[in-house]
Amino acid sequence: MRSLKDRGSDGRDLTEVEDTCIECHSQGRPLTIPIEGKYYDWPVGYRVGLRLQDFWKLEDHTLGVTSFTHFPEGTAHKNRMQGNDFVQSVMYRRGIACFSCHDAHGTDNYAQLRKPADKICLDCHAPLSPNGPRTATLEEHTHHEDGSAGSQCIACHMPQIETTIADVRVHAHTFKFVTPEMTEKYGIANPCTSCYTDKSTSWATEALRQWPERSPWRLE
Ligand code: HEC
Ligand code: HEC
Ligand code: HEC
Ligand code: HEC
Repeated sequence: MRSLKDRGSDGRDLTEVEDTCIECHSQGRPLTIPIEGKYYDWPVGYRVGLRLQDFWKLEDHTLGVTSFTHFPEGTAHKNRMQGNDFVQSVMYRRGIACFSCHDAHGTDNYAQLRKPADKICLDCHAPLSPNGPRTATLEEHTHHEDGSAGSQCIACHMPQIETTIADVRVHAHTFKFVTPEMTEKYGIANPCTSCYTDKSTSWATEALRQWPERSPWRLE
């Protein structure tokens, strides 16, 4: 069981706790149609403490296919799919939860973050920390001057991706770095040319090759 015990909680199942958010912040399908044969686009009958998997199935996706909900490489491009994204991430596998960053009871920060977006990551990440980044300073990791737009963790790890509604642009919650090469292959926006709009993806790939701590094999 993925347990919360080590955080001084009462041993509640971590999956169950995160499902409290995923219930609404995901795209999927109800497993049954319990109310007079009428289809509802949410897990009818689920409530906190029950198992979401008994009521709800996350939207299927076939790698390589662009669908209403997904980019071909698996990132969501529709609004309110943080759950679909997050369960794919390394942080989810390591027991980080929505509530590690958000306090749904409300805060003064954007998106009910526990700390402002430029601070929250540093609660667990620091240069040479076991969680990364693995450079001596943050500047060596970001290759942008501290405090500049390009040095923000979310600029590269939570790029504002396309959405299907109006002009809202939601942030990817896979926390993956989307390479310029993926833009070529899959049509998903990468952080480099989203900012340097006058530059090409091959310019960006070449620039990344000059970052000495980056493996060239991860840039494809
Ligand atoms: C009953 C459904 C429901 C549940 C459960 C739920 N949310 Fe939401 N949440 C919404 C809706 C609807 C919005 C409105 C924004 C939108 O359309 O995406 C929202 C908005 C948000 C926002 C953006 C708010 C802002 O101020 O910009 C955050 C962050 C968020 N939810 C986090 C969470 C977290 C974390 C949990 C679990 C602890 C959670 N939500 C549980 C339905 C829900
Ligand atoms: C590691 C930290 C972290 C985790 C874990 C996390 N979020 Fe977020 N989330 C953020 C940040 C940072 C932003 C806002 C980015 C900004 O300031 O523009 C955000 C934004 C949002 C928003 C507002 C819409 C958007 O995309 O900007 C919603 C809704 C949301 N998160 C829901 C969730 C839910 C639900 C989960 C769990 C499935 C979750 N988040 C997990 C850091 C996190
Ligand atoms: C509550 C602690 C916590 C917070 C807050 C947090 N992280 Fe993490 N993060 C982790 C842990 C733990 C790992 C896994 C480290 C490992 O096992 O190597 C991780 C891993 C990562 C990775 C590597 C994932 C991969 O795919 O290789 C990235 C990138 C990352 N975090 C970005 C962020 C960003 C951006 C924020 C802020 C929005 C953030 N983290 C906030 C704990 C946290
Ligand atoms: C200018 C872009 C950029 C910024 C800004 C950025 N990162 Fe990264 N980060 C990367 C790239 C590129 C990778 C390598 C991704 C891969 O190999 O898949 C990476 C990897 C990571 C990893 C995995 C371990 C490692 O060192 O490779 C962690 C953790 C991480 N970043 C955290 C952060 C945090 C925390 C911040 C904010 C202080 C941040 N990053 C800001 C580009 C950036």
